Amino acid sequence: MADLSIDLAGIKSPNPFWLASAPPTNTGYQVQRAFEAGWGGAVWKTLGDPIINTSSRFAAVHFNGQRVAGFNNIELITDRPLEVNLKEIYETKKRFPNHAIIASLMVEPSQAKWHEIVKRVEAVGVDGLELNFGCPHGMAERGMGAASGQQPDLVQAQTAWVKEVATTPVIVKLTPNITDITVVARHAVKGGADAISMINTINSLAGVDIHSWNTIPHVGGQGAHGGYCGPAVKPIALSMVAECARDRAVTVPISGIGGISTWQDVVEFMLMGATGIQVCTAVMHHGFRIVEEMIDGLNNYLDDKGLASVTELIGKSVSRYSNWGDLDLNYQVVARINEENCINCNKCHIACEDASHQCIDMLTNAEGKAVLQVREEDCVGCNLCSIVCPADGAIDMIPLENGAAPLTWNERQKVIQSLNGTYSEAEVM
Ligand SMILES: Cc1cc2nc3c(=O)[nH]c(=O)nc-3n(C[C@H](O)[C@H](O)[C@H](O)COP(=O)(O)O)c2cc1C
Ligand code: SF4
Ligand code: SF4
Repeated sequence: MADLSIDLAGIKSPNPFWLASAPPTNTGYQVQRAFEAGWGGAVWKTLGDPIINTSSRFAAVHFNGQRVAGFNNIELITDRPLEVNLKEIYETKKRFPNHAIIASLMVEPSQAKWHEIVKRVEAVGVDGLELNFGCPHGMAERGMGAASGQQPDLVQAQTAWVKEVATTPVIVKLTPNITDITVVARHAVKGGADAISMINTINSLAGVDIHSWNTIPHVGGQGAHGGYCGPAVKPIALSMVAECARDRAVTVPISGIGGISTWQDVVEFMLMGATGIQVCTAVMHHGFRIVEEMIDGLNNYLDDKGLASVTELIGKSVSRYSNWGDLDLNYQVVARINEENCINCNKCHIACEDASHQCIDMLTNAEGKAVLQVREEDCVGCNLCSIVCPADGAIDMIPLENGAAPLTWNERQKVIQSLNGTYSEAEVM
């Protein structure tokens, strides 16, 4: 069995599965039950000046029979007194000395306030700190959370203030509500961050009730934007992790968050550069025990791959992620339909006809049966037919050996410039 333990910037954990700062980490009772279930770490529900939460605060987007494809909330940070949280952190750490407990923090952008809270939480024995510069609602209107996180200089300054007094590793949690997350990640590093985590939630409005015309959720008939998370945001989170992982100026480890609910998701985030991961929505949906399947699945996967430690996954796919200009323009795949698995639903034909390159022909075979066949010379390999096909194994995307040497857009542009107008653009391919 492989070693699942990780070390994220000096924070040690028996496995890479951490609970994200959110309702499941609100109390010592919950975190201790989570550790008993198998979670390796927990980022405590964000501490700060206690606030008042609204009643009615969550909403979900159910899509085509899948409940909670996306989750939306307008909850703020902890509404429990700091002393109570600190006492429970102390007790939990005492009971689980080998598990990782990270205190998530959010205060006003004031050096004195940061110094004060850091000293108080470190005194109860946390293994690290996570600075919440990501919450997009409520606290942002008061100049904290995402409002701070959208200003790179402020992220750098606040991180530096924390580092002036912190004795444990400092993770900076980033907001996805920004054009280029690497800019803020770099500033966090400049401020002295030991690690970064991403993503917090994405600005969202879950819906509008078409009968009452109220927003979903609403508080007595009035709504406000919330934060979106859950399976729907995973591709966004994964790309942000990948962007930071491949950025040479972002030299610190990454804790990956956003839409993770299975061991396969964990493997994907780690391959894309995360040292460990955090989960919120999947636990809110299914409870702490989902970690059992995640641990088993990850163990089996690592054994199958012959890997002795989960850390061997970290960043292995990063070099395979680059810019569009570095992709081989001469690489070619085509769709091929396997008659024996096709259920003749015609979805691929409609998709190719209406939304792609009109290259799936309807033919009649020797037995007089209607069959679909791809005209490979016209297929651009867009994948659409295989995406919409409901039958497993009915469409394969096949790489073609076309004899053309690899050529990227960037290489092509260099060649055109060096030819200095001797050949037309169309001739260079
Ligand atoms: C109801 C709710 C409350 C949350 N509260 C916090 C919080 O206090 N601090 C924080 O840093 N993130 C908070 N988050 C964000 C999560 O920690 C996490 O970044 C986000 O939900 C994405 O992960 P997921 O897709 O696994 O849910 C909250 C999320 C939800 C759904
Ligand atoms: S891959 Fe695209 S172009 Fe080719 S057959 Fe399918 S839908 Fe048509
Ligand atoms: S979508 Fe798939 S199952 Fe349906 S006709 Fe096309 S190949 Fe057959």
